[in-house]
Amino acid sequence: MTTLIDTPGDLTAPTELPARPAAVGVLMARPTYFDVEYVINPYMEGNIGNVDQAKAMAQWQRLHDVYQSLGYEVHVIDGAEGLPDLVFIANQSFPAQMPDGSWAVVMSRMRSAHRRGEVPIVEAWYRGRDARTLRLADPKEEFEGCGDCRWHPNRRLIYGGYGFRTLRSSLRDLAEMLETPVVPLQLTDPGFYHLDTCLSPLTETAALVVEEAFEPEGLAMLEKAFPQLVRVPVEEARHGFATNGNCPDGKHFVVHYDNPVTIAAVKALGLEVIEVDTSEFLKSGGSVFCMTMMLP
Ligand code: ARG
Repeated sequence: MTTLIDTPGDLTAPTELPARPAAVGVLMARPTYFDVEYVINPYMEGNIGNVDQAKAMAQWQRLHDVYQSLGYEVHVIDGAEGLPDLVFIANQSFPAQMPDGSWAVVMSRMRSAHRRGEVPIVEAWYRGRDARTLRLADPKEEFEGCGDCRWHPNRRLIYGGYGFRTLRSSLRDLAEMLETPVVPLQLTDPGFYHLDTCLSPLTETAALVVEEAFEPEGLAMLEKAFPQLVRVPVEEARHGFATNGNCPDGKHFVVHYDNPVTIAAVKALGLEVIEVDTSEFLKSGGSVFCMTMMLP
């Protein structure tokens, strides 16, 4: 039975695990109704009603155009009134290649009731494209999709964050359902409430990490998995969401501009950095990675 991998000794070198095809498309949700209307993470505090909508739309459009210029087909879901966080399209689902090559999408169960209405909208979009959608066995199990679960680049291995939005038991069920090992990583700092705020896999061997956001056991797993594990200054990760950048192809890193140390470190790894401004979305606790969903 495929399940959780808890100790470095049980982790096969990811480069020896079965391969996984690269993403070809990107899904985004237009921020027509984006705002900060409630507080479910520390960044939202003090920001209710503070979003400059025109600026947010322009920042979103620039991100959309960046993915297009990288050669991805970008699909867009319309915004929905009353669901200001729908724009964070990484959170409602987790697309997965099954071992037989077919693909399926595991739908989330958002922790906050404010966000639960986003899931059926995203599910309807997948269904319209004939994608098979799945759910975790226990309907009460909290799980926030690619917000907390990240694939190892090109390989059949998943890193799963838990502690704030996703339950550890959800990760165990996910591993069984997808017949793919999951490395569970307990998150310890409310400022890094999703795994995609503190871990950013870049290539098969390199990743960015916020050391302060993990338990020592979790960090040891990541050290084994990524020979080049680059520590990001915690202040850049907090204020600039440095670790919420996205490397879709092992070559480019799209990231909020205000992260000089992280950007220099990524360039030193040989990647091309594309800087964007996500200041309006930072007010809600999100940035580049959570505004896009990479599609198989
Ligand atoms: N306001 C949203 C929330 O707290 C932001 C989500 C950002 N997404 C992410 N994957 N970090 O749920």
